[in-house]
Amino acid sequence: TSLDAFVAGLPKAELHLHIEGSLEPELMFDLAQRNGIDLPYASIEALRAAYDFSNLQDFLDIYYQGANVLRTEEDFYDLAMAYFKRAAADNVRHAEIFFDPQTHTDRGIPYAYVIEGLNRAAKDAEALGLSVSLIHSFLRHLSEEAAFESLAMAVPYLDKIIGVGLDSSEVGHPPSKFTNVFAKARELGLKLCAHAGEEGPPAYVYEALDILHIDRIDHGNRSLEDPVLVAHIVREGMTLTVCPLSNHKLCVVKDLNDHPIPDMLAKGLRATINSDDPAYFGGYVNDNFLSLTRCGLIDREDCLTLARNSITGSFLSEERKTALI
Ligand code: HPA
Ligand code: ZN
Repeated sequence: TSLDAFVAGLPKAELHLHIEGSLEPELMFDLAQRNGIDLPYASIEALRAAYDFSNLQDFLDIYYQGANVLRTEEDFYDLAMAYFKRAAADNVRHAEIFFDPQTHTDRGIPYAYVIEGLNRAAKDAEALGLSVSLIHSFLRHLSEEAAFESLAMAVPYLDKIIGVGLDSSEVGHPPSKFTNVFAKARELGLKLCAHAGEEGPPAYVYEALDILHIDRIDHGNRSLEDPVLVAHIVREGMTLTVCPLSNHKLCVVKDLNDHPIPDMLAKGLRATINSDDPAYFGGYVNDNFLSLTRCGLIDREDCLTLARNSITGSFLSEERKTALI
Protein backbone atom coordinates (compact mmCIF):
# COMPACT_ATOMS: atom_id res chain seq x y z
CA THR A 1 0.00 0.00 0.00
CA SER A 2 1.03 3.59 -0.50
CA LEU A 3 2.32 5.49 2.49
CA ASP A 4 -0.84 7.64 2.41
CA ALA A 5 -3.04 4.57 2.64
CA PHE A 6 -0.83 3.11 5.37
CA VAL A 7 -1.18 6.30 7.46
CA ALA A 8 -4.94 6.42 6.86
CA GLY A 9 -5.28 2.82 8.03
CA LEU A 10 -3.30 3.14 11.24
CA PRO A 11 -5.46 3.07 14.37
CA LYS A 12 -4.65 6.23 16.29
CA ALA A 13 -5.63 8.42 19.20
CA GLU A 14 -5.89 12.18 19.00
CA LEU A 15 -4.60 13.73 22.22
CA HIS A 16 -4.36 17.43 21.34
CA LEU A 17 -7.52 18.87 19.86
CA HIS A 18 -9.39 21.99 20.97
CA ILE A 19 -13.03 21.36 20.13
CA GLU A 20 -13.60 25.10 19.54
CA GLY A 21 -10.76 24.90 17.01
CA SER A 22 -12.65 22.29 14.99
CA LEU A 23 -15.39 24.82 14.15
CA GLU A 24 -15.32 24.90 10.34
CA PRO A 25 -16.39 28.15 8.63
CA GLU A 26 -19.47 26.46 7.12
CA LEU A 27 -20.74 25.41 10.55
CA MET A 28 -19.81 28.83 11.98
CA PHE A 29 -22.08 30.50 9.39
CA ASP A 30 -24.87 27.95 10.01
CA LEU A 31 -24.77 28.50 13.78
CA ALA A 32 -24.61 32.29 13.35
CA GLN A 33 -27.78 32.11 11.27
CA ARG A 34 -29.52 29.72 13.68
CA ASN A 35 -28.71 32.02 16.62
CA GLY A 36 -29.39 35.32 14.83
CA ILE A 37 -25.78 36.51 15.08
CA ASP A 38 -24.12 38.81 12.52
CA LEU A 39 -20.59 37.68 11.65
CA PRO A 40 -18.03 40.36 10.77
CA TYR A 41 -17.28 38.47 7.49
CA ALA A 42 -19.30 38.68 4.29
CA SER A 43 -18.64 35.07 3.24
CA ILE A 44 -16.99 31.78 4.08
CA GLU A 45 -14.15 32.76 1.71
CA ALA A 46 -13.63 36.09 3.49
CA LEU A 47 -13.51 34.27 6.83
CA ARG A 48 -10.97 31.72 5.57
CA ALA A 49 -8.87 34.54 4.14
CA ALA A 50 -8.52 35.93 7.68
CA TYR A 51 -6.78 32.71 8.77
CA ASP A 52 -3.29 34.07 8.23
CA PHE A 53 -1.34 34.16 11.46
CA SER A 54 2.15 35.34 12.48
CA ASN A 55 2.01 33.99 16.02
CA LEU A 56 -0.19 32.33 18.64
CA GLN A 57 -1.95 35.55 19.70
CA ASP A 58 -3.03 36.40 16.11
CA PHE A 59 -4.75 33.03 16.00
CA LEU A 60 -6.28 33.22 19.48
CA ASP A 61 -7.98 36.56 18.68
CA ILE A 62 -9.83 34.97 15.75
CA TYR A 63 -10.44 31.68 17.55
CA TYR A 64 -12.17 33.34 20.52
CA GLN A 65 -14.22 35.50 18.15
CA GLY A 66 -15.33 32.38 16.24
CA ALA A 67 -16.49 30.68 19.45
CA ASN A 68 -19.07 33.45 19.91
CA VAL A 69 -21.56 31.59 17.67
CA LEU A 70 -21.72 28.71 20.19
CA ARG A 71 -24.76 29.43 22.38
CA THR A 72 -26.93 26.36 23.05
CA GLU A 73 -26.40 22.79 24.20
CA GLU A 74 -27.27 21.73 20.65
CA ASP A 75 -24.52 24.00 19.23
CA PHE A 76 -21.89 22.21 21.35
CA TYR A 77 -23.36 18.85 20.33
CA ASP A 78 -23.25 19.74 16.63
CA LEU A 79 -19.71 21.14 16.91
CA ALA A 80 -18.41 17.99 18.60
CA MET A 81 -20.33 15.55 16.37
CA ALA A 82 -18.87 17.18 13.24
CA TYR A 83 -15.36 16.67 14.63
CA PHE A 84 -16.04 13.08 15.72
CA LYS A 85 -17.28 12.13 12.24
CA ARG A 86 -14.20 13.71 10.66
CA ALA A 87 -11.86 12.04 13.15
CA ALA A 88 -13.46 8.61 12.69
CA ALA A 89 -12.87 8.99 8.92
CA ASP A 90 -9.14 9.29 9.75
CA ASN A 91 -9.32 6.04 11.78
CA VAL A 92 -9.00 7.93 15.05
CA ARG A 93 -10.26 5.35 17.56
CA HIS A 94 -9.94 7.47 20.69
CA ALA A 95 -9.89 11.24 21.25
CA GLU A 96 -9.04 13.24 24.37
CA ILE A 97 -10.35 16.68 23.55
CA PHE A 98 -9.83 20.05 25.20
CA PHE A 99 -12.65 22.50 25.72
CA ASP A 100 -12.30 26.07 26.98
CA PRO A 101 -15.20 26.62 29.42
CA GLN A 102 -14.19 30.16 30.37
CA THR A 103 -14.56 31.28 26.75
CA HIS A 104 -18.25 30.39 27.09
CA THR A 105 -19.15 30.97 30.74
CA ASP A 106 -17.61 34.47 30.59
CA ARG A 107 -20.18 35.23 27.83
CA GLY A 108 -23.03 34.02 30.03
CA ILE A 109 -23.34 30.53 28.52
CA PRO A 110 -24.06 28.01 31.32
CA TYR A 111 -21.33 25.41 31.94
CA ALA A 112 -24.12 22.80 31.77
CA TYR A 113 -24.84 23.59 28.09
CA VAL A 114 -21.17 23.13 27.22
CA ILE A 115 -20.50 19.91 29.13
CA GLU A 116 -23.86 18.30 28.38
CA GLY A 117 -23.66 19.03 24.65
CA LEU A 118 -20.10 17.73 24.39
CA ASN A 119 -20.84 14.69 26.55
CA ARG A 120 -23.95 13.74 24.58
CA ALA A 121 -21.90 13.87 21.37
CA ALA A 122 -19.13 11.84 23.03
CA LYS A 123 -21.66 9.10 23.83
CA ASP A 124 -23.01 9.12 20.27
CA ALA A 125 -19.43 8.89 18.91
CA GLU A 126 -19.23 5.33 20.27
CA ALA A 127 -21.41 4.26 17.31
CA LEU A 128 -18.60 5.57 15.05
CA GLY A 129 -16.04 3.32 16.75
CA LEU A 130 -14.56 6.28 18.61
CA SER A 131 -14.18 6.64 22.37
CA VAL A 132 -13.89 10.17 23.76
CA SER A 133 -12.69 11.84 26.95
CA LEU A 134 -13.08 15.55 27.76
CA ILE A 135 -10.34 17.81 29.19
CA HIS A 136 -11.44 21.04 30.90
CA SER A 137 -8.83 23.67 30.01
CA PHE A 138 -8.02 26.83 31.90
CA LEU A 139 -7.23 30.04 30.02
CA ARG A 140 -3.77 31.05 31.24
CA HIS A 141 -4.17 34.73 30.32
CA LEU A 142 -6.82 34.89 33.08
CA SER A 143 -6.09 34.63 36.81
CA GLU A 144 -5.63 31.52 38.93
CA GLU A 145 -8.68 32.66 40.91
CA ALA A 146 -10.73 32.56 37.68
CA ALA A 147 -9.39 29.03 37.04
CA PHE A 148 -10.56 27.99 40.53
CA GLU A 149 -14.05 29.37 39.76
CA SER A 150 -14.08 27.43 36.49
CA LEU A 151 -12.98 24.22 38.21
CA ALA A 152 -15.78 24.66 40.77
CA MET A 153 -18.29 24.62 37.89
CA ALA A 154 -16.89 21.24 36.79
CA VAL A 155 -17.26 19.60 40.21
CA PRO A 156 -20.88 18.41 39.65
CA TYR A 157 -19.69 16.84 36.37
CA LEU A 158 -16.46 15.14 37.44
CA ASP A 159 -17.65 11.85 35.96
CA LYS A 160 -17.72 13.54 32.54
CA ILE A 161 -14.16 14.92 32.42
CA ILE A 162 -10.87 13.07 32.54
CA GLY A 163 -8.55 15.95 33.26
CA VAL A 164 -7.63 19.60 33.11
CA GLY A 165 -5.47 21.49 30.64
CA LEU A 166 -3.77 24.87 30.35
CA ASP A 167 -3.96 26.84 27.11
CA SER A 168 -4.17 30.32 25.52
CA SER A 169 -1.40 32.98 25.50
CA GLU A 170 1.73 31.29 26.84
CA VAL A 171 4.47 33.90 27.16
CA GLY A 172 4.06 35.89 30.40
CA HIS A 173 1.74 33.26 31.88
CA PRO A 174 4.03 30.50 33.20
CA PRO A 175 2.69 27.22 34.56
CA SER A 176 3.65 28.24 38.12
CA LYS A 177 0.85 30.84 38.00
CA PHE A 178 -1.53 27.84 38.30
CA THR A 179 0.23 25.79 40.99
CA ASN A 180 -2.65 25.75 43.46
CA VAL A 181 -5.48 25.05 41.03
CA PHE A 182 -3.53 22.17 39.47
CA ALA A 183 -2.92 20.72 42.96
CA LYS A 184 -6.68 20.96 43.58
CA ALA A 185 -7.48 19.26 40.26
CA ARG A 186 -5.10 16.43 41.15
CA GLU A 187 -6.83 16.01 44.54
CA LEU A 188 -10.11 15.68 42.63
CA GLY A 189 -8.59 12.72 40.76
CA LEU A 190 -8.15 14.52 37.45
CA LYS A 191 -5.29 14.01 34.98
CA LEU A 192 -3.17 17.08 34.30
CA CYS A 193 -2.03 18.47 30.95
CA ALA A 194 -0.43 21.79 30.09
CA HIS A 195 0.64 23.54 26.91
CA ALA A 196 4.32 24.32 27.43
CA GLY A 197 7.22 25.18 25.16
CA GLU A 198 5.06 26.18 22.18
CA GLU A 199 6.19 29.83 22.33
CA GLY A 200 7.38 29.78 25.93
CA PRO A 201 10.95 28.90 26.98
CA PRO A 202 12.25 25.55 28.31
CA ALA A 203 11.84 26.95 31.86
CA TYR A 204 8.06 26.76 31.37
CA VAL A 205 8.33 23.06 30.52
CA TYR A 206 10.34 22.48 33.71
CA GLU A 207 7.64 24.29 35.70
CA ALA A 208 4.87 22.23 34.11
CA LEU A 209 6.74 19.01 35.00
CA ASP A 210 8.17 19.82 38.41
CA ILE A 211 5.69 22.35 39.84
CA LEU A 212 2.37 21.36 38.25
CA HIS A 213 3.29 17.63 38.08
CA ILE A 214 1.57 17.18 34.74
CA ASP A 215 0.85 13.81 33.16
CA ARG A 216 1.35 14.98 29.56
CA ILE A 217 3.04 17.88 27.76
CA ASP A 218 1.16 19.70 25.00
CA HIS A 219 3.53 20.84 22.23
CA GLY A 220 6.85 20.91 24.13
CA ASN A 221 8.80 21.94 21.01
CA ARG A 222 11.17 24.33 22.78
CA SER A 223 12.29 21.56 25.17
CA LEU A 224 14.77 20.66 22.43
CA GLU A 225 16.77 23.79 23.27
CA ASP A 226 17.80 22.20 26.57
CA PRO A 227 19.46 18.74 26.51
CA VAL A 228 19.11 18.32 30.30
CA LEU A 229 15.37 18.94 29.98
CA VAL A 230 15.12 16.46 27.09
CA ALA A 231 16.83 13.80 29.26
CA HIS A 232 14.41 14.61 32.11
CA ILE A 233 11.35 14.19 29.83
CA VAL A 234 12.73 10.94 28.38
CA ARG A 235 13.44 9.59 31.89
CA GLU A 236 9.89 10.39 33.01
CA GLY A 237 8.45 8.70 29.90
CA MET A 238 6.32 11.78 29.22
CA THR A 239 4.27 11.96 26.06
CA LEU A 240 4.46 15.11 23.93
CA THR A 241 1.40 16.04 21.87
CA VAL A 242 2.94 17.71 18.83
CA CYS A 243 0.95 19.54 16.14
CA PRO A 244 2.88 20.01 12.86
CA LEU A 245 0.40 22.09 10.81
CA SER A 246 -0.31 24.26 13.85
CA ASN A 247 3.41 24.80 14.41
CA HIS A 248 3.77 25.89 10.82
CA LYS A 249 0.68 28.17 10.70
CA LEU A 250 1.64 29.87 13.99
CA CYS A 251 5.29 30.25 12.91
CA VAL A 252 6.57 28.11 15.79
CA VAL A 253 8.38 26.32 12.95
CA LYS A 254 9.31 28.61 10.03
CA ASP A 255 9.61 25.85 7.44
CA LEU A 256 7.76 22.54 7.69
CA ASN A 257 10.90 20.87 6.27
CA ASP A 258 12.59 21.76 9.57
CA HIS A 259 9.87 20.32 11.78
CA PRO A 260 11.46 18.80 14.93
CA ILE A 261 9.47 15.52 15.01
CA PRO A 262 12.40 13.46 13.59
CA ASP A 263 14.75 15.00 16.15
CA MET A 264 12.26 14.25 18.95
CA LEU A 265 11.99 10.59 17.91
CA ALA A 266 15.76 10.29 17.56
CA LYS A 267 16.17 11.59 21.11
CA GLY A 268 13.75 9.04 22.51
CA LEU A 269 10.90 11.46 23.21
CA ARG A 270 7.43 9.92 23.02
CA ALA A 271 6.06 12.29 20.40
CA THR A 272 2.56 12.04 18.95
CA ILE A 273 0.94 13.80 15.97
CA ASN A 274 -2.22 15.84 16.49
CA SER A 275 -4.28 18.53 14.78
CA ASP A 276 -4.72 21.17 17.57
CA ASP A 277 -7.26 23.44 15.78
CA PRO A 278 -7.90 21.74 12.44
CA ALA A 279 -10.52 24.20 11.12
CA TYR A 280 -7.98 27.02 11.45
CA PHE A 281 -4.74 25.24 10.54
CA GLY A 282 -5.89 23.41 7.42
CA GLY A 283 -5.89 19.75 8.32
CA TYR A 284 -7.06 16.88 10.51
CA VAL A 285 -4.80 14.22 12.01
CA ASN A 286 -3.99 12.27 8.84
CA ASP A 287 -3.19 15.55 7.06
CA ASN A 288 -0.73 16.28 9.87
CA PHE A 289 1.02 12.93 9.35
CA LEU A 290 1.09 13.47 5.57
CA SER A 291 2.47 17.01 5.92
CA LEU A 292 5.61 15.35 7.30
CA THR A 293 5.74 12.25 5.08
CA ARG A 294 5.54 14.55 2.02
CA CYS A 295 8.57 16.49 3.25
CA GLY A 296 10.36 13.16 3.59
CA LEU A 297 10.78 13.78 7.32
CA ILE A 298 9.15 10.56 8.54
CA ASP A 299 8.80 7.11 7.00
CA ARG A 300 6.39 4.20 7.47
CA GLU A 301 8.17 2.96 10.60
CA ASP A 302 8.06 6.45 12.16
CA CYS A 303 4.34 6.72 11.38
CA LEU A 304 3.75 3.42 13.14
CA THR A 305 5.76 4.61 16.16
CA LEU A 306 3.90 7.93 16.28
CA ALA A 307 0.49 6.23 16.05
CA ARG A 308 1.44 3.72 18.76
CA ASN A 309 2.73 6.54 20.95
CA SER A 310 -0.71 8.17 20.69
CA ILE A 311 -2.38 5.05 22.08
CA THR A 312 0.19 4.45 24.82
CA GLY A 313 0.25 8.17 25.73
CA SER A 314 -3.53 8.31 26.16
CA PHE A 315 -5.36 8.07 29.48
CA LEU A 316 -7.05 4.80 28.42
CA SER A 317 -6.85 1.67 30.59
CA GLU A 318 -4.00 -0.72 29.80
CA GLU A 319 -6.55 -3.27 28.50
CA ARG A 320 -8.05 -0.81 26.06
CA LYS A 321 -4.58 0.35 24.94
CA THR A 322 -3.59 -3.24 24.19
CA ALA A 323 -6.81 -3.79 22.25
CA LEU A 324 -6.15 -0.75 20.06
CA ILE A 325 -2.49 -1.34 19.23
N1 HPA B 1 -1.90 27.05 22.07
C1 HPA B 1 -2.43 27.72 23.08
N2 HPA B 1 -3.74 27.88 23.22
C2 HPA B 1 -4.54 27.34 22.32
C3 HPA B 1 -4.05 26.63 21.25
C4 HPA B 1 -2.65 26.46 21.13
O1 HPA B 1 -2.10 25.82 20.20
N3 HPA B 1 -5.13 26.23 20.53
C5 HPA B 1 -6.24 26.67 21.16
N4 HPA B 1 -5.89 27.36 22.25
ZN1 ZN C 1 -3.31 23.42 21.62
